[in-house]
Amino acid sequence: MQLSKTFTRPIGQISQQLNTIVRALAGGKRIFELMDEEQEIDNGYVTLVNAKYENGVLIETKEKTGTWAWKHPHHDGRLEYVELKGNIELTNVDFGYEENKMILHDISLYAKPGQKIAFVGATGAGKTTITNLLNRFYDIEDR
Ligand SMILES: Nc1ncnc2c1ncn2[C@@H]1O[C@H](COP(=O)(O)OP(=O)(O)O)[C@@H](O)[C@H]1O
Ligand SMILES: [Mg+2]
Repeated sequence: MQLSKTFTRPIGQISQQLNTIVRALAGGKRIFELMDEEQEIDNGYVTLVNAKYENGVLIETKEKTGTWAWKHPHHDGRLEYVELKGNIELTNVDFGYEENKMILHDISLYAKPGQKIAFVGATGAGKTTITNLLNRFYDIEDR
């Protein structure tokens, strides 16, 4: 018994180590895939800035005011500030992760600033997909 254990224990140990190595390789593959991901280029020119109202006009400030505004430079050099209110609006949105497999069809929803909304639906209905869109992890197909 003792002798046979001495023989089989190292074999068991090797297979355990192998298990760990294979898991590490799989994890490493995913890490390198992420590192090789092509960087997205930000072509946007609208930025979010601190703002405040002075004599009823929205102006940009350096200090934190708790009020935010979208700063929109126009071609004629004019600057437009639009207050960030935090309302969310999707209008007739279509979206699919893959080109020819649409997931969301003609979705419209509206959320007032500060409003709490629950997404309720069966698994695979598209709840996570909608939250992915709100965070701009993906861009919509059509609206
Ligand atoms: N990353 C993805 N790539 C391709 N299809 C996806 C992906 N994530 C989800 N899907 C598909 O989108 C549909 C909606 O999924 P999902 O938004 O996760 O639903 P829910 O969160 O409501 O369960 C499902 O058919 C699912 O297979
Ligand atoms: Mg989900």
